Amino acid sequence: MKCKNYFILSLLLMALLSFTSAVAQGTTPNSCVTAKCHTELVKTKFVHGPAAVGACVQCHELLPNETHKFKKIGTSVNLCNNCHDPIKPDKVNHAPFAKGDCVACHNPHGSDQRFMLRQKSIPQLCFSCHKEEMIKKKTLHVPVEEGDCLVCHQPHASENPKLLVKSGDSLCFMCHTDIESGLVEAKDVHSPVAQCTTCHNPHGSDSERMLSSGVPNLCYTCHDGIKQSVAQAVVKHKAVEEGKKCINCHSPHFSKFPKLLVNEPMSLCLSCHNKTMNVQNGTLTNMKELFEKNDKWHGPIRERDCSGCHNPHGGKTDFRLLRWVYPREFYSSFSIEQYELCFKCHQPTLVLEPRTTTLTGFRNGDQNLHYLHVNKKVKGRTCRACHETHASQKADHIRELVPFGKWELPIHFEKTSDGGKCSPGCHATKEYKR
Ligand code: HEC
Ligand code: HEC
Ligand code: HEC
Ligand code: HEC
Ligand code: HEC
Ligand code: HEC
Ligand code: HEC
Ligand code: HEC
Ligand code: HEC
Ligand code: HEC
Ligand code: HEC
Ligand code: HEC
Ligand code: HEC
Repeated sequence: MKCKNYFILSLLLMALLSFTSAVAQGTTPNSCVTAKCHTELVKTKFVHGPAAVGACVQCHELLPNETHKFKKIGTSVNLCNNCHDPIKPDKVNHAPFAKGDCVACHNPHGSDQRFMLRQKSIPQLCFSCHKEEMIKKKTLHVPVEEGDCLVCHQPHASENPKLLVKSGDSLCFMCHTDIESGLVEAKDVHSPVAQCTTCHNPHGSDSERMLSSGVPNLCYTCHDGIKQSVAQAVVKHKAVEEGKKCINCHSPHFSKFPKLLVNEPMSLCLSCHNKTMNVQNGTLTNMKELFEKNDKWHGPIRERDCSGCHNPHGGKTDFRLLRWVYPREFYSSFSIEQYELCFKCHQPTLVLEPRTTTLTGFRNGDQNLHYLHVNKKVKGRTCRACHETHASQKADHIRELVPFGKWELPIHFEKTSDGGKCSPGCHATKEYKR
């Protein structure tokens, strides 16, 4: 209230007392609000101060030489500022406020709503100008559902875009404090989270969790590479397509694990692979049990890195989501390309040199027994004939049993001080000495 107007105000307030009783009797003298005229104007729950005291002429100026004709009221803002401190414009001004059209929202005489607002509720007020379709969505944000537009928006002016009470994520953090504190503590933060509204519609949406589009399409708008891997996968991983899809493995916001994983990488895989699973061409091993029962883990698994060999998003190869080619059979006509997987990390010379005294421990004198078994045009033994890929009880990941057709063929491998021996179903007991 402007100081110079305190005088007017006190007069008005003094008049108010006598006026209310007068209205009750319906005999307000010299007033526009008589029993016959304009009584409805002031019969609201929240009557504007000057109207309440019958100070109609504070706003309605009589035309000269007229008894009941009033000057047109221009933009109402000048009128309001006669008594109220002008509301300061800011960087962003609501269009009707900027135009000075205060009475678009406020009834100058009074209304049944606080602040003499023209509509029964805040959303009704807003939707008297804005399109209500904006919030006709399957999922609504709770504050929107509650009709509390003003918890986020200023009605008049704001320093922030879209008349928001706070800018950027700090708006959301007024309520989502757990996410705010999570972000502070997290090791890995998803960069788009710097702006929550990149993924979420603040009012509501037809997708779950108010997402601007559902997972995985939302993710694909930025991760085209993953979109391609999934689309082009020869073997699909159900984990990507079932349940929460990408969110089965990744947190959308932040994580204390690398790559936004929801769990430590190996535990993540084993959280599902803790049982046998039926797939089109057979049964998948219970991996959790396999690792518990076999304590000699292959190098990358000791690093708890399953993705070194498997692509969790889908396999480029036709076998077990493997990143590189690896034969699925017991026998194979030798070519080095078939062992792309193993030779991403191991030296291919292991199977290329017939004679060696350095390249492998699997030799008899200088005869390379890897070469002998593997490097054959007909019935070359594949690595799986002897090695277990994930974990074993024997040294060098030699298997106990090898799947041979439907039979599990025992190997009976024993390591000796300078070689080893085995008596597999394939041939009589043989020994090698380096
Ligand atoms: C704070 C300023 C203000 C006061 C005080 C005020 N009016 Fe108004 N009045 C307006 C404005 C502004 C309009 C036109 C705006 C509109 O509603 O479109 C208006 C419009 C009217 C109208 C036109 C019809 C209508 O309802 O819109 C009547 C009649 C009227 N006023 C009567 C009164 C009477 C009687 C009083 C005293 C009890 C009074 N006014 C007090 C500002 C005021
Ligand atoms: C003649 C002086 C006068 C004029 C002109 C005037 N007001 Fe008021 N207004 C008051 C008084 C007195 C109060 C009641 C005092 C209070 O509650 O703070 C009031 C209260 C209000 C309130 C309620 C505020 C609250 O905190 O509850 C709103 C909103 C308001 N006026 C808006 C307007 C608008 C919009 C205009 C212009 C159309 C306007 N006023 C013009 C004197 C005036
Ligand atoms: C788009 C609608 C809209 C317009 C236009 C508008 N107001 Fe308001 N005004 C509101 C709403 C909604 C509130 C209630 C805010 C709340 O609940 O905190 C309000 C509150 C007020 C208040 C009381 C609370 C406060 O912030 O002091 C006054 C006084 C006021 N308005 C004056 C004006 C004046 C003067 C104008 C024109 C310059 C104007 N308003 C234009 C919607 C509007
Ligand atoms: C009297 C009509 C009217 C009312 C009532 C109204 N608005 Fe607006 N509003 C507009 C116009 C006109 C614009 C500017 C054009 C546009 O963006 O649609 C606007 C713009 C906006 C904007 C965008 C501002 C920007 O800078 O981009 C927001 C946010 C907004 N209004 C929120 C609200 C909310 C919340 C309410 C209810 C409290 C409300 N409006 C009530 C007329 C209105
Ligand atoms: C949780 C906070 C929040 C609530 C509650 C909220 N809004 Fe918004 N609103 C926003 C944000 C954030 C934006 C800006 C969106 C953007 O930039 O994409 C926005 C934008 C808008 C816009 C401008 C749209 C445009 O495209 O320019 C309007 C209009 C609007 N809101 C009206 C409303 C109305 C009406 C309500 C109540 C029914 C409401 N809002 C409730 C946060 C909110
Ligand atoms: C005024 C408080 C408030 C503000 C501000 C707020 N929210 Fe919310 N939000 C809530 C409440 C309450 C819920 C419901 C909580 C629940 O169900 O656990 C919710 C739920 C959500 C949900 C989950 C919806 C679902 O279907 O489970 C998302 C996503 C969300 N808010 C995003 C945002 C974003 C983004 C912002 C900032 C633009 C924001 N919120 C600002 C109060 C708020
Ligand atoms: C990259 C897209 C993306 C961004 C950016 C994003 N979110 Fe989310 N948000 C999601 C997805 C996807 C879900 C669904 C998770 C689920 O289904 O478990 C979600 C879920 C939520 C939920 C409900 C579940 C929960 O974790 O409580 C809230 C609340 C939420 N987000 C708030 C926010 C806030 C606040 C921000 C900004 C700090 C934000 N989001 C930024 C994608 C995003
Ligand atoms: C608005 C674009 C955008 C959207 C939408 C988006 N991301 Fe991202 N994401 C990024 C950017 C930018 C990076 C960081 C740059 C990079 O490493 O590629 C990133 C990184 C990642 C990373 C790697 C994090 C790391 O530590 O290297 C994962 C995992 C990820 N996003 C998953 C998702 C998932 C799941 C979704 C869907 C819920 C999603 N993203 C939606 C932009 C997006
Ligand atoms: C079965 C668990 C799982 C699912 C489901 C999954 N991911 Fe991943 N994702 C991972 C793992 C593990 C990594 C880290 C290893 C790697 O780089 O391949 C990763 C890495 C990423 C990266 C970072 C890639 C890089 O090169 O740094 C992005 C981006 C990503 N995922 C997005 C997605 C999207 C989008 C979806 C849904 C279509 C999805 N992920 C589904 C497990 C998963
Ligand atoms: C959310 C559960 C889930 C998680 C997490 C998960 N998987 Fe799977 N995975 C499955 C299901 C279900 C199947 C079997 C159905 C299918 O994909 O054909 C499967 C199949 C597989 C297959 C065999 C695919 C085939 O058909 O030949 C491999 C290999 C595999 N997963 C590796 C992994 C690795 C590595 C991880 C960790 C990065 C992982 N999985 C995480 C659910 C999961
Ligand atoms: C050194 C590469 C490599 C690493 C590391 C690796 N795998 Fe494998 N994985 C394979 C190969 C090769 C196959 C096919 C095995 C076969 O048929 O003998 C396979 C098969 C699988 C299968 C299908 C099992 C079946 O019964 O056919 C699952 C499930 C699987 N791996 C999960 C995992 C998980 C979980 C991890 C991490 C703990 C992991 N893999 C790490 C190479 C690897
Ligand atoms: C992602 C890299 C990687 C891939 C792919 C890989 N290995 Fe390994 N492998 C290792 C590491 C690391 C060691 C441990 C070496 C050490 O301990 O010095 C290891 C050890 C071994 C050992 C035991 C030798 C020793 O010194 O302990 C055998 C046998 C073996 N790998 C066979 C295979 C076979 C067969 C394949 C193909 C199915 C394969 N590896 C694929 C990284 C890999
Ligand atoms: C006929 C059985 C057999 C086949 C087939 C076989 N290995 Fe071996 N491999 C062994 C034995 C036995 C050892 C242990 C040698 C020792 O140290 O006594 C070994 C050791 C290894 C080692 C440890 C380093 C070394 O050479 O001593 C690696 C790596 C390895 N094999 C990789 C492979 C790869 C890759 C394949 C498939 C291309 C393969 N093996 C095929 C029996 C086999």
